[in-house]
Amino acid sequence: MRLDRFLTRLGTHSCKEVARLLADGRVTVDGTIELSGLRRINRFSRVKLDGEVLQDNPAVYLMLHKPAGYLSATTDPQHPTVMELIDHPSRDELHLAGRLDRASTGLLLLTNDGRWSRQVTEPVEEISKVYRVTTREVIPPETAAIFAEGIYFAYEDLTTRPAVLEILGGKEALLTIHEGRYHQVKRMFHAVGNQVLSLHRESIGPLVLDDTLPSGAFRHLSAAEVAYFRP
Ligand code: URA
Repeated sequence: MRLDRFLTRLGTHSCKEVARLLADGRVTVDGTIELSGLRRINRFSRVKLDGEVLQDNPAVYLMLHKPAGYLSATTDPQHPTVMELIDHPSRDELHLAGRLDRASTGLLLLTNDGRWSRQVTEPVEEISKVYRVTTREVIPPETAAIFAEGIYFAYEDLTTRPAVLEILGGKEALLTIHEGRYHQVKRMFHAVGNQVLSLHRESIGPLVLDDTLPSGAFRHLSAAEVAYFRP
């Protein structure tokens, strides 16, 4: 929205008065005097008139190290949700940018910026997600080639995009996928006669779970991390 429209919509000043306020350098946007009413602002811009706050609703971007047992939802009548782990003043405004199954652990993103979360969940370009997986059976080396070919999911009538499987040991692997179908990783292993026992998301695109973040804790993303998914 244009700054002059924002100011006139407050209803306290006419268009003419708004033009004057701006010309007199009485309005700041994010801490800097703004002389032009054409300046575009959004709902996260901090706007002040004569030092008095007119709008201050900061954008919030968090990474959570999700523990097992919490639902990726904002409310649930039965199970604890990840929101219970978020002790933050903006908590009630936040939504999830992607999900993990209740038993899964690792990187989960929360924000109050819907445009940003759409870049994470509905990207124009593919975003890779890396999972550390442990399985019930030993993972045979040929599984990598099968996952690279793609697995047919009858329910959706589609074949998964080529995935990269790096077998780390008998029953442990890193799997990189480029989409997020329902229970995708579990279904891929199920399709080759194996079973996922634990699933931990390590990264989403270039954003890696902070290894100093204990399970159940969250932190703000840095400006550089936010910028990975700038709309
Ligand atoms: N795939 C799954 O099966 N579960 C998750 O939580 C994430 C990806």
